Amino acid sequence: MTRIDFHSHILWNVDDGSLSKEMTLDMLSISEEERVEYICATPHYIINEQEIALEDYKERFELLTEAYKGNVNLIPGLELYMHPKLPEYFKQGKIFGLNKEKYMLIELPMRDFPIYTRDVFYELSILGVKPILAHPERNLKIQQSPTFLMELIDDGVLAQVNAGSLLGVYGQAAKDSAELFVKNNMIHLLGSDAHNNQRRSPRISKAYRRLKELNPELYTWINNNNESIIKGEDVHPLAIIRQQHKESFLKKLFKKS
Ligand SMILES: [Fe+2]
Repeated sequence: MTRIDFHSHILWNVDDGSLSKEMTLDMLSISEEERVEYICATPHYIINEQEIALEDYKERFELLTEAYKGNVNLIPGLELYMHPKLPEYFKQGKIFGLNKEKYMLIELPMRDFPIYTRDVFYELSILGVKPILAHPERNLKIQQSPTFLMELIDDGVLAQVNAGSLLGVYGQAAKDSAELFVKNNMIHLLGSDAHNNQRRSPRISKAYRRLKELNPELYTWINNNNESIIKGEDVHPLAIIRQQHKESFLKKLFKKS
């Protein structure tokens, strides 16, 4: 089994993540404690607002590999903010996937599900990209209607849950959704989404344990497929458990009314 942290802001002074080399090294020592073998360094990339030139990324990633001499393998990547121009940027070679392979981490606005989301994912897939949706359990529209996520997964999109969501760090709604998605095989990978060495740290092992409790079959699938995603190899997700999903969703609706 290989433990991978697919989502982190460990590159310092790039975004709202790590503030210094020292903080980054501290974060990585936490990852070591958590027995993480690979960590993806995925700073925010927001088209027209917060773009990182490829050369700049390279330089910063090299600074990181020079500074860090520990056992966690560092994997390059980006956390791309949903934008209709993502396919164009990919064609122009401005953006890249995890480990410079085909899986690409993409986040949605927290409170919206843009109407062009499925189209952008489709266009990317035509270009050979496999989208990974970052922390869907934190998106308000998906919380209210998990069908949005189900449709994306049916289209071939993978979903990454935040470790903190499973532990209640982002509130009850995100926790409920994270649990629901894990129980119904609607999650394919875990990330700490670490921003610092304090409250939003790269701690991940508790969340792995929680995931195992909630869905042992999915836990095994993740352990067996984690590394393939880093290598850019195809994976075959477990089928979504739709009936149970429907019931839980109805229960959720019923509770609210
Ligand atoms: Fe993030």
